[in-house]
Amino acid sequence: MENKKTSFSGSLGFILAAAGSAVGLGNLWRFPYLAAKDGGGLFILVYIILALTFGFTLLTADIAIGRRTGKNALEAYGAISKKWKFVGVLSFIVPFVILGYYSVIGGWITKYVVDYVVTDASVMAQDGYFTSFISSPVSPIVFMFIFLAITSVIVYLGVEKGIEKFSKIIMPGLLLLIIAIAVFSLTLSYTDENGITRTGLEGMKIYFVPNFEGLTFSKVLEIIVDAVSQLFFSLSVAMGIMITYGSYVKKDINLTKSVTQIEIFDTIVAVLAGLMIVPAIYVFAGLEGMNAGAGLMFISLPKVFNSMGAIGGVVGALFFLMVIFAALTSSVSIMETVVAGVMSLFKTTRKKAAFTMFVIFALIAVVICMGYNVLYFEADLPNGAKAQQLLDVIDYVATSLLMPVITISTAILIGWITKPKWVIEEMESSGHKFTRKYLFSFVIKYCTPVLMVVLLLKALGIL
Ligand code: ALA
Repeated sequence: MENKKTSFSGSLGFILAAAGSAVGLGNLWRFPYLAAKDGGGLFILVYIILALTFGFTLLTADIAIGRRTGKNALEAYGAISKKWKFVGVLSFIVPFVILGYYSVIGGWITKYVVDYVVTDASVMAQDGYFTSFISSPVSPIVFMFIFLAITSVIVYLGVEKGIEKFSKIIMPGLLLLIIAIAVFSLTLSYTDENGITRTGLEGMKIYFVPNFEGLTFSKVLEIIVDAVSQLFFSLSVAMGIMITYGSYVKKDINLTKSVTQIEIFDTIVAVLAGLMIVPAIYVFAGLEGMNAGAGLMFISLPKVFNSMGAIGGVVGALFFLMVIFAALTSSVSIMETVVAGVMSLFKTTRKKAAFTMFVIFALIAVVICMGYNVLYFEADLPNGAKAQQLLDVIDYVATSLLMPVITISTAILIGWITKPKWVIEEMESSGHKFTRKYLFSFVIKYCTPVLMVVLLLKALGIL
């Protein structure tokens, strides 16, 4: 059995590992396309308000639950109250489900990194390139395997020597790359075949200035629901990760400060990711280019890199390298949550648990890869969206159903059963002040359950 005193070495190690967990595909891939779809600045505004209230509350609750109980996600809820053990089980199932498809998307990114290094940027810009890659039988599996293997090795090495060390090396570089690419994006300018010149600064205006045109109640609701589910995913809350990481935080660390830093880091990176991507797409593909949805990163951006001329290949390589750094620090946290649960469930060692889970996740991810060829199907989801294969269905179940259920349960448990003071005591146990404690109490008791019921009804197609 692993030494019970497993922990991050200190505050910086924890913040970078937790920020590494938070900053991932959610920020770099999901946030920009949601912002483009939901009227730019309006989505950003709603997102930031929700991040500072709702996101902050959930992040605080998760980290405090982890540190106060000293247990991983699977066991923490049962340690608070036996009747609530089922929330722990759900919090264990979510990362289990997510890692399967996270590895598949991580594999796609790995493939793009390799491609930008070894071939010409024009190759990835060809029509049908992405679709033909993801639907091919072998290549997505090979790249998924590479991504999952790197993730597993880091988890295998342990919390301090693996996760913390990796995050400390990767995160500063990641931030620098994002800032550099965002600044570069703003300097772009392009004249199309109709003689119309578009600039990065105009693109920035489109990204930041709220678009109220044709705004209806149902659209506002859609923006709020998009922002809330984005928050879950982006902050790594309601999926057991922050509980597990919280259990590795030493008792003398100022949690209030850590939560604020993680929250700010994650939000800044999401906003910067949009600043990198949206103006670049606008410059080279105009407003229509922004409607690519999930294909924004894999289909539209390679065309943008190709239009940049000689420098495009280098920018593309750096961009996907940055995305893979971010994705790895997140996939590591997802896998760590599962491995920690497996270690306690089967009383086994980290090494055995990490290796076994690597094999199991590889098998799950192979099935998800096959969802793009032999197992392809289309289905209507209850929320009105179209699932185009297995990945969409799994994502829907995890983020639209399980995460709201976990969050409602956590809000009732902490808001009404233990009462918010249970978390406040933990936040102040190191002798530091919990500055936003009234906000926390109010949001966990009242706002969270209401917001979650709305989200669930919308997900079930009732609203
Ligand atoms: N928080 C992680 C992400 O944003 C899971 O990708």
